[in-house]
Amino acid sequence: MLFDNRIAELRAELTRHNQLYYQDAKPEIPDAGYDRLFRELEDLEKAHPELHDPNSPTQRVGGTPLDAFEQRPHLLPMLSIDDLFDEEEVAEFFKRLQKGLALETIPLTVEPKIDGVACSLVYRDGSLEYALTRGDGTRGDDISQNVRTIRNIPLTLENAPPLLEVRGEVFMPSEGFARLNEQRDEEGLDTFANPRNATAGTLKSLNPRTVAARPLAFLAHGLGDHEGTDMQTEDDFRKLLERFQIPCNAPIWHVETLEKVLAAIRELDVKRHDLGHGTDGAVIKVLDFDQRVTLGFTSRAPRWAAAFKYPPEQKETLLKEITIQVGRTGVLTPVAELEPLFVSGTTVSRATLHNQEEIERKDIRIGDTVLVEKAGEIIPSVVQVVTAKRPATAQPYHLPTVLNHQCPSCHGPIEKADGFVAWRCVNFECPAQAVTSITHFAGRKALDLDGLGESVAIKLVESKLASSPLDLFSLTAEDLANLLLDPAKSSDGLTKSKERRFGEKRATTLITSLKKARQEMPLSRWLFAMGISQIGESSARELSRLHEKLTDLVGSSIVSDLADLPDFEELQKSKRKKENHPRLQQYKIDDNLGPVAAQKLRAFFQSEAGLTVLTKLAELGIDPKSDNYVPDPEAGLEGLPLVGKSFVITGSLSAPRPEFKKLIEANGGKVSGSVSSKTDFLLSGEGGGSKRTKAESLDVPVIDEVTLKNMLSS
Ligand code: IVH
Repeated sequence: MLFDNRIAELRAELTRHNQLYYQDAKPEIPDAGYDRLFRELEDLEKAHPELHDPNSPTQRVGGTPLDAFEQRPHLLPMLSIDDLFDEEEVAEFFKRLQKGLALETIPLTVEPKIDGVACSLVYRDGSLEYALTRGDGTRGDDISQNVRTIRNIPLTLENAPPLLEVRGEVFMPSEGFARLNEQRDEEGLDTFANPRNATAGTLKSLNPRTVAARPLAFLAHGLGDHEGTDMQTEDDFRKLLERFQIPCNAPIWHVETLEKVLAAIRELDVKRHDLGHGTDGAVIKVLDFDQRVTLGFTSRAPRWAAAFKYPPEQKETLLKEITIQVGRTGVLTPVAELEPLFVSGTTVSRATLHNQEEIERKDIRIGDTVLVEKAGEIIPSVVQVVTAKRPATAQPYHLPTVLNHQCPSCHGPIEKADGFVAWRCVNFECPAQAVTSITHFAGRKALDLDGLGESVAIKLVESKLASSPLDLFSLTAEDLANLLLDPAKSSDGLTKSKERRFGEKRATTLITSLKKARQEMPLSRWLFAMGISQIGESSARELSRLHEKLTDLVGSSIVSDLADLPDFEELQKSKRKKENHPRLQQYKIDDNLGPVAAQKLRAFFQSEAGLTVLTKLAELGIDPKSDNYVPDPEAGLEGLPLVGKSFVITGSLSAPRPEFKKLIEANGGKVSGSVSSKTDFLLSGEGGGSKRTKAESLDVPVIDEVTLKNMLSS
């Protein structure tokens, strides 16, 4: 059939483009072209569910969320590896190998120990059958759905053996980790302490779409079970990986003596900081598989491998000054200005101190000598103060006092809300925020205003054409066309040409996208664009699912209910608490939207700045509409006699039970299957059995048909 062929063709084609993009970094088609093929495949698959394939490229974006991970046994135990903490221990390990093999020199490999989460990939007949975490070594969690979203893992192998189990590490590349944390910081979510935690946290998510949105990657480092292959050494295994384009851990050293092992470990220590991902050691392995068999295993680890652990590098330096950064949402972040030092591969001269509380907890003072390390080898952080070296004059640091309670950028008032750690500038017109808030407002994920990047935003603010995002809607094409930009750099990058105008053409484009923003951009984009503290892309999306239009958010009872919940973390942990809040349970609010975000939103709409924005929007006639709104399941039920009442039905009645269920629901009530303390009434006919006994024991009123009918007419 035609669509069969087309589906197969599209799958192959998209797989090839994935490969070109994610592994070879040589894309052949533009993103839009890829998206078109992808959507065509998605549509065809939707129309032909019988042709579903878990390894179709469409599964890369994540399928349906799971309730829990299933466990599965490992084909072969997934063991741990012995750690070596200094060169002496490496020497002892080498001696054990010599003794075990009765050899003087032994072909070994040395490779980075990736700081990630171990994972086993099982390919059967060239198709990824499932993926497991290490678990207890014997059984692991089936994380197949999540693993399928990891772009550099091939889902299918060509001309593959009947069975191939590849083991390796799932990790988050340093750059992606830094970006994820930045984004979370901006959205007011907790940041991850290091890439390993971010990876583990992500893989534990039951929603594969969350995983798909995170920059995870995989590198193979070991062979598990296999059939129909002929491999004698680690090198054979690596050739096989290469043939199947399974990304493999690198670099690798081939060595045969203790001296060479130690040299490789030292070389790797220099190189490892440039690998783009966290490493915490060097793994030493016997190259030859027969020799591995000879050496065998202890109960917990192979005798033919060991991991040398590099000590985390910590160095002392002088904390010269504490400066304050004003963030996009007005958050004032204290930053340690350090005497530059070289640590874990780069020069560090600044480290965030996060907030006043953190400074107090560590008692950090200007003039202190501090110990600095890179968390997860990436983010510089001040570990602690070397108190012995504290100058007598050093005073405790108190951010609001130092700033004289003024924003360093606009001298506007600063405040710290109850329950929050951050001090913030609350002046909506703060110029430190104007450029960033306009740039953010115009961003691709916000209102996508064509041609309005940071440099243009700076000019708009400088020329006083705009001091806040909504001012953009009052701009005329003429204003814009005449806006003077910085001189363009000439092609040699040295000489400067004359100042440039923004120009008519770009002005028209920008005016068109402003019009589109005003008329077409959905609520979620607007909410995100407004740069309200704690409201990020995902929480904005969730808010727009729950509200029809922007003005519905003002005084929204959903937002209020959520804001008044004391502790969302707890709420998520204990299902009981969630049940205690019927409305929140009913809306199934996901973990992207918590009480803190709700509090921020409510506070914003009640603040002077928020009211100004609402007034301006009303004047402009803008009230963005949701594009994913799901109407309140109880909407329109108000005033019905049974609203908010929960029923259980039992016994034999004058009509089938579903009829009564319909009747109750039509009158605003709810029907559930079993009696609990939350049941308001048990509707019971003749008999009634255990439900009746239960209801009586819980003091739930038991009513008959006549009483029900009376309730309906009252
Ligand atoms: S080989 C039988 N090579 O470290 C175990 N493991 O602490 C042989 N790891 O569970 C493991 N990088 O997940 C090996 N290059 C590497 C590794 C590596 C990271 C992990 C692995 C293992 C853990 C042991």
